Amino acid sequence: MANSFDVMVIGGGPGGYVAAIRAAQLGLTTACIDEWRGADGKPALGGTCTNVGCIPSKALLQSSEYYAQAGHEFADHGVKVKGLDLDLAQMMKRKDKVVKGSNDGVLYLFKKNKIQFFHGRGGFGKSPSEVVVNGQTLQAKHVIVATGSNPRALPGVEFDEKLILSNAGALTIADVPKRLGVIGAGVIGLEMGSVWRRLGSEVTILEALPAFLGAADETIAKEAAKIFVKQGLKIELGVKIGAIDRKKNVKVQYTASDGSSKALECDRLIVSIGRLPNTEGLNAAAVGLKVDERGFAVVDGEWRNNLTDTLEIGGVVRRPMLAHKAEEEGAAVAERIAGQKPHVDFNTVPWVIYTTPEIAWVGETEQQVKARGAEYRTGSFPFAANARARALGDTSGLVKFIADAKTDQILGVHIIGPFAGELIAEAVVAMEFRGSAEDIGMICHAHPSLSEAMKDAALAVDKRAINI
Ligand code: FAD
Ligand code: NAI
Repeated sequence: MANSFDVMVIGGGPGGYVAAIRAAQLGLTTACIDEWRGADGKPALGGTCTNVGCIPSKALLQSSEYYAQAGHEFADHGVKVKGLDLDLAQMMKRKDKVVKGSNDGVLYLFKKNKIQFFHGRGGFGKSPSEVVVNGQTLQAKHVIVATGSNPRALPGVEFDEKLILSNAGALTIADVPKRLGVIGAGVIGLEMGSVWRRLGSEVTILEALPAFLGAADETIAKEAAKIFVKQGLKIELGVKIGAIDRKKNVKVQYTASDGSSKALECDRLIVSIGRLPNTEGLNAAAVGLKVDERGFAVVDGEWRNNLTDTLEIGGVVRRPMLAHKAEEEGAAVAERIAGQKPHVDFNTVPWVIYTTPEIAWVGETEQQVKARGAEYRTGSFPFAANARARALGDTSGLVKFIADAKTDQILGVHIIGPFAGELIAEAVVAMEFRGSAEDIGMICHAHPSLSEAMKDAALAVDKRAINI
């Protein structure tokens, strides 16, 4: 077994495994260290995303959505379901199988690309070019740190994964809790809150900020708030969390936005208030690796930190904690090491929240465009006026384009509606090519398709939408 490599990647999540594969494709001798263990104790490559993030959450979102549709929507299509029953254990088993398939997929890709894999925790040795794993010292010309992030706990309220749950516990609840509390109405709170609401929990989400979904475009956030409340999610904004007691269940004391003291009693509490970078066990301080005041890696525009030949990517670095952003960075750093000049355009990294309806956006929100004083025009189109959405029976939401008033260049596209996460790809392509709203409006879109809502919204920027 070799112990000297061109590239050593610490972390086998979407950032790390993509970096390793791209480096190997470019002819560099490559190794990857990852410590994640599956339930069987074996390596479970793919990081947070595959094991306790993107993949299992999307599996449960899909399964719970089918359950909700069978209970509430099939009848409208003339499909009668008698004796509908929830087999939560099977739902979890299926989710685990989906995860295992992805773990095995990464392991297969490592073998295919001749990447040497070490299962264990890797940390710097005596110098930044030395990495120690399972007592073995390895040498590397370049080290890529892709160690991801961990859930942030409320001060003094540690996760026990039984009553107070992080994302990991939220994905493995064995019985549907009657009352589920969630702290943080961010992406995890909304996605996991939706899963358990669909399966029958009474869900209350407590959010510190006074505005709902502040990162999204205001039009979309307002629409989302209306829809989620209709679905039965109770969302309280502007709260200040106080003491949390856990005995048989959990009691959260909080101050409501009007200043009154309130308490939420629930059977399980998910705490989803953001994530912190994971540099634990890296022995980072010993080699002088710089981190900022919140523990995030400090890197320049080319992902270089203060150590020679060490690069950092993904969740351990600031900027959005998204798997596809980590993947882009992974490929880019490998190419940089190989002497190429890749570029990642962070303005065209899309966001998708996999609720029903889905929420997706790319580029600037209207409030951001307004704040920088730019002149702009907007065009919106509701799914209620889209034939495919009506046939699907899913007419909630809209598409909104924001374009420069003079050049018509697309500045941002915001969608709430069916398959928004798929539709946003067209906007990303258009923005990458500096496209205009008219460019999208002039393209022939299949009929009937949800993508026609993209065309109509783009045409609406110039008040030329046909179907409204
Ligand atoms: P990670 O995926 O965290 O991988 C880091 C890996 O490094 C882990 O395997 C860890 O065990 C390993 N590691 C750490 N330190 C060491 C060490 N010293 N030695 C060896 N190994 C080490 N993003 C999306 O884009 N879409 C989604 O739908 C989505 N859904 C999510 C749902 C949930 C519930 C959560 C929690 C996150 C979700 N995310 C989603 C975010 C996404 O999971 C992260 O942005 C992504 O995983 C970051 O990738 P990464 O490679 O930087 O780190
Ligand atoms: P988040 O940043 O999306 O949301 C956290 C929310 O908690 C915010 O609204 C914040 O204001 C609130 N909050 C913070 N402290 C609080 C407090 N003390 N009391 C009440 N509310 C408080 O973080 P989240 O949901 O934990 O997810 C972490 C990250 O994982 C996301 O930022 C995202 O990058 C990634 N993710 C991505 C998904 C996707 O792409 N579909 C799905 C799930 C997670």
